[in-house]
Amino acid sequence: MRIGILASGTGSNLQAILDGCASRSIPAEVAVVICNIPGVKALQRAESARVPAVLLPHQKFPNREEFDRELVLTLQEHRVDLVCLAGFMRLLGPVLLRAFHNRILNIHPSLLPAFPGLHAVRQALTAGVRVAGCTVHVVDEGTDTGPILIQAAVPVLDSDTEETLAARILVQEHRCYPRAIALWAEGRVQIEGRRVRITGAGPRPDHTLSSPELTD
Ligand code: GRF
Repeated sequence: MRIGILASGTGSNLQAILDGCASRSIPAEVAVVICNIPGVKALQRAESARVPAVLLPHQKFPNREEFDRELVLTLQEHRVDLVCLAGFMRLLGPVLLRAFHNRILNIHPSLLPAFPGLHAVRQALTAGVRVAGCTVHVVDEGTDTGPILIQAAVPVLDSDTEETLAARILVQEHRCYPRAIALWAEGRVQIEGRRVRITGAGPRPDHTLSSPELTD
């Protein structure tokens, strides 16, 4: 399976996926990394891993549709089967969603459907929840609304700031995203309406993860 990764920033999730492919815990290869912002760390990570890296600055395109069209062409040129958004800070339009229908994944730093959209960690702190986490989901036309593949939970501590909670969640993101992609590559993901069924699951469900602090 060939993965195309779209990233706009640090790319720590990109790195977790690159590492998973290198160690074969994900039976797939990263075919291309596409960034929309010049000079970001995600680009360097792709280059260090000797994976084709493409810079497509969105502001150079007259509108979202033209930008999406170029994304689709680039993904198709690299014969991508599955698109993974990893901190990609652009909304996707119908051109891309149609070309890769039910073949785009995203990771979001909240337990969806709670706190979709921007500043999810801040939203969780403001709401006063005691458990936060992350979600890997299939991308549909809504904002963080698609079918859910994997979630992981972390505790919210009284002392937490947005930074400390985001860091605790990020540790789980780096477990969840490679796991979700591996399940996909193994052909174990079935989308049934809004629900995702993971086939061939063992006695321990491998799509509900918790940080050690929660299971103690
Ligand atoms: C992560 O928090 C992810 O949940 C969100 O964007 C951030 C990307 O971080 N979608 P990184 O670039 O992978 O380090």
